[in-house]
Amino acid sequence: MTPKINWGIIGPGKIAKKFTASLREVEDANLYAVASRNLQRAEEFAKENGATKAYGSYEEMLRDEEVDVVYVATPHVFHHAQTLLCLRHKKAVLCEKPFAINRQQVEEMITTAKENNVFLMEAMWTPFLPHIKYLCEILDSGKYGKVKYLSADFGFYFPFDENSRLFRKSLGGGSLLDIGIYPVFLALHTLGLPEKVEATAQMGKTEVDEVCDVIFSYPNGAKAELHSNVTKDTPTTAYFELENASIKIESKWHNPSTVVITTAEGTESKTFDVASFGYEYEARHVQEMLRQGKTESDVMSFDKSRELISMLDEIRKKIRLEY
Ligand SMILES: NC(=O)c1ccc[n+]([C@@H]2O[C@H](COP(=O)([O-])OP(=O)(O)OC[C@H]3O[C@@H](n4cnc5c(N)ncnc54)[C@H](OP(=O)(O)O)[C@@H]3O)[C@@H](O)[C@H]2O)c1
Repeated sequence: MTPKINWGIIGPGKIAKKFTASLREVEDANLYAVASRNLQRAEEFAKENGATKAYGSYEEMLRDEEVDVVYVATPHVFHHAQTLLCLRHKKAVLCEKPFAINRQQVEEMITTAKENNVFLMEAMWTPFLPHIKYLCEILDSGKYGKVKYLSADFGFYFPFDENSRLFRKSLGGGSLLDIGIYPVFLALHTLGLPEKVEATAQMGKTEVDEVCDVIFSYPNGAKAELHSNVTKDTPTTAYFELENASIKIESKWHNPSTVVITTAEGTESKTFDVASFGYEYEARHVQEMLRQGKTESDVMSFDKSRELISMLDEIRKKIRLEY
């Protein structure tokens, strides 16, 4: 029997809990260890979620030789330093999105992974989801012609709290890096790099973008309108207009959902269910890459992460948001 792959978690917070639930769906994965700045928090998380080991410091967990791969699940601003720490301990890393705060940090992470010959991937789970793969198959087939227009939004009401990582500038707060990253990624993934980028934002009391609107224009005339918002619930759908059809991914499009295709002949829809939240697909992929001895994903590659962070940097420049 193939030995299980031992996962370690850095930052036992909200997303780590969901990821852990998804990890249970991955046949040959083992939630082995969890590390927090606070031992009690690590112990509680380990007990609740079934991890064998709990550590009160990240470095201590990284010295544990049984840990094969580390999931970095802390707020954005810590991704860079913590990923470097893992890589220098020769641990493979799956690091939450956004990979880091800017392109320079991402480049350093990639260089360090290469220097240490260890696997590194941004936990951008979107391209691994079955409904997104289905969407891409349809678009790539050319069956309905080219995409002329994309509109995608992601918005939810989060009561203002200056201490929350969503609003605190020192923690990389704002809508773009937290949720706007998904519509931006969807546009890059399906339409490629735009030739023109326009962006506007509504900045809040803590000087981060509470609302962000982006327009991508493509050389063939296609356009993408992308919206993120942490002040109100928005439809959170993705809508593609093609030459001979429209395709809608129903709410909430970034989670496993329903894809509806409408043509002159009628409408067909396909619903994608998942066993857990859907993080199992990216986790399975990481395991596959590790078993094949790969140090870079062939789906969420370094170049994909570079494109994404470069676009986020460009948008931030336009909305004058500096961290
Ligand atoms: N893929 C997805 O669907 C998805 C969804 C939500 C979030 N995310 C990403 O996941 C990351 C974490 O988000 P989250 O909502 O789970 O975060 P969180 O619950 O607020 O924090 C996660 C952990 O980070 C550490 N942490 C929190 N605040 C800190 C601070 N001020 N200083 C130092 N460490 C701090 C804590 O670890 P200790 O216990 O060690 O103190 C905490 O348990 C973000 O980058 C976010 O973009 C991804």
